[in-house]
Amino acid sequence: MCGMWRTRSSVLILLFVALISLTCVILFYTASPNQLIKWLPAKSLSLGNSWARGIKLMKEYPELDSILQKADMGNKTVIITTLNYAWATPDSMIDLFLESFHTGEGTSRFLNNLVIVSLDQKAYNRCTSIHSHCFILKTKGIDFSGEKRFMTDDYLKMMWRRIEFLRAVLEMGYSFIFTDADIMWFRNPFDHLATDADFQIACDRYNGNPTDLNNAVNGGFNYVKSNDRTIQFYRYWYSSHKLYPGKHDQDVLNYIKHNEEIRKMGLSMRFLDTSYFGGFCEPRKDFTKICTMHANCCVGLKTKLHDLRLMLTDWKNFQSLAIQDRLLQEPLWRTPMQCKI
Ligand SMILES: *[C@@H]1O[C@H](CO)[C@@H](O)[C@H](O)[C@H]1NC(C)=O
Repeated sequence: MCGMWRTRSSVLILLFVALISLTCVILFYTASPNQLIKWLPAKSLSLGNSWARGIKLMKEYPELDSILQKADMGNKTVIITTLNYAWATPDSMIDLFLESFHTGEGTSRFLNNLVIVSLDQKAYNRCTSIHSHCFILKTKGIDFSGEKRFMTDDYLKMMWRRIEFLRAVLEMGYSFIFTDADIMWFRNPFDHLATDADFQIACDRYNGNPTDLNNAVNGGFNYVKSNDRTIQFYRYWYSSHKLYPGKHDQDVLNYIKHNEEIRKMGLSMRFLDTSYFGGFCEPRKDFTKICTMHANCCVGLKTKLHDLRLMLTDWKNFQSLAIQDRLLQEPLWRTPMQCKI
C-alpha cells in the first residue's frame, strides 16, 4: 500500500518535471535571443555553457550574426577589415582598398564577402554609403575616429579591441580572412592558403619555411579557421596584452608564439610567403605571383596613400600589357617610394 503510493507520487513528479521542461523548450524556440537576454539573470551569462555564451555574444555584438550570414561565402567564411574615420574619408584608404578588388584578377566577387568593421560612427556612415556589409564596433569612452599614429595609446587600444572582436567572430562559428585596409588585393588569396592549418599569417620578412616560428609575423593579414583551438588561442593572445603593456598585438604574438601553452593547444600555424602575400618590408615581388600587397614598414597616412596609389597604377600598367609582353619585359614596381624613408 505504502509502496504503491510512493510509485504514484514519483509518476506525478516525473510528469511535472516533463511539463516544465516542455515549457522551457517551447519558450526557447519561440522567443528571440533579445527577449531571452532580458529574462536571464546577469549571472547566468558568465556560465561556461555554449548556449549562455551564444546569448552573451549576441548581446555584446548585436546584428553581427546577421551581417556575417549575409557576407558568408557559403562555407562559413568571411573577409573582415577594420576602419576608422581617418581611413574612411572620401578618396582615402578605404577607396583604394575597394578599388584594388575591382582591378584585381577575380577579386571583385570577394566584395560580397567583405565585412567592414567601423570603429566609430563617422566611419560607419561612410561605409554604408559605399559598401553593403557594414558593422559598427563601439568602445565606451574612446573615440577612434582620428588618425591613430603608430603606437600611441589609442592606436594600441584599437588594435587590441580588434583581437577581442575577431575572437567573437570565431566563437560565432565563422572562419575569416582578416585584412588591413592598406593591403591591395590583386589575386585570389585562397589559391595560396593551406586548407589544413588553423592559423595562417602574413610576414614582414619570410625565411622560406612556412612552419618556422622564427618568421617575423605581420598581423595585417591572416586566415583563421573557426574551431576550439583558434578560439582558445585568441583568448590567450588577448589576455597576454596585460603581460606586455605598451606592445601591440603583432609584437605580443611574436613573443608568445613559442610558448608552451600554444603548443599544448595543438594550434597549427603557418607563415605566408611574401612572394604571394607581400609588402614594403620585402618589396618588389614578382607581378605574376603576387596576391596581396601591404603598405607595411611605412608610417603615416599621407605616405601610405601616396605609395598605394602608385602601386595601383603600376598594377594597372602591368595588367594592360599583352600576355607575351608580361613575360618579356620585367615590369617594375615603383613602390616603395615615400614609404622607404
Ligand atoms: C570557402 O569558399 C571559398 C570561395 O568559394 C573558397 O575559395 C575557400 O577555399 C573555401 N574554404 C574552405 C575552407 O573550404
